[in-house]
Amino acid sequence: MTVATKNRIHLGIIVALLLVIAGVAYKFIVAGSTRGNDDGRVAVVLEPGERALMLREMREFVVAIERLTDALARDDLRAVAVAARAAGAAKAHDVPVAMLSKLPLEFKTLAFATHRGFDAMAARAEAGATPKETLVALSALLQQCVTCHARYALATVPTVPQR
Ligand code: HEC
Repeated sequence: MTVATKNRIHLGIIVALLLVIAGVAYKFIVAGSTRGNDDGRVAVVLEPGERALMLREMREFVVAIERLTDALARDDLRAVAVAARAAGAAKAHDVPVAMLSKLPLEFKTLAFATHRGFDAMAARAEAGATPKETLVALSALLQQCVTCHARYALATVPTVPQR
């Protein structure tokens, strides 16, 4: 075998490996684990425990919003900051990597933007934002909840084999 042929084979192997790596990266970072949902949305397919974790985080969003609106109604910006911080990005660190890899890139982007939005709201409240400004920010954040819910549903891996 000539040196040139060997080089070509090595190059071929490297290209094949890079394609495999790109494919794996695409699957885990961009595509996630999804299937069509009956209602036209995209269903993110999770293990039952992962679904429970996701829904628990969702309900914590509602708790945070309840506390936020209560604090806003009382013009208590310190309590606004505490409530907003509870729904901030620190929460997202609870999500295991295996579960993150099942979420499509757009889903992850929306989810992190929502958590970061709460952090930004907390920071602005600490810096003296008015309740009206906080309400405007909350309304923009709620738009992200609406956008994601319109696009995505959750499904679990079937426990019985599908026919
Ligand atoms: C990145 C996507 C995404 C964002 C952002 C998002 N959600 Fe969700 N949420 C979901 C999905 C997916 C479900 C499951 C819905 C389904 O299967 O029909 C869900 C479910 C819920 C549920 C039902 C919980 C349960 O126990 O059944 C609540 C409540 C909820 N979300 C509140 C919120 C609120 C409030 C926000 C914004 C502050 C928000 N979500 C932002 C994706 C999102």
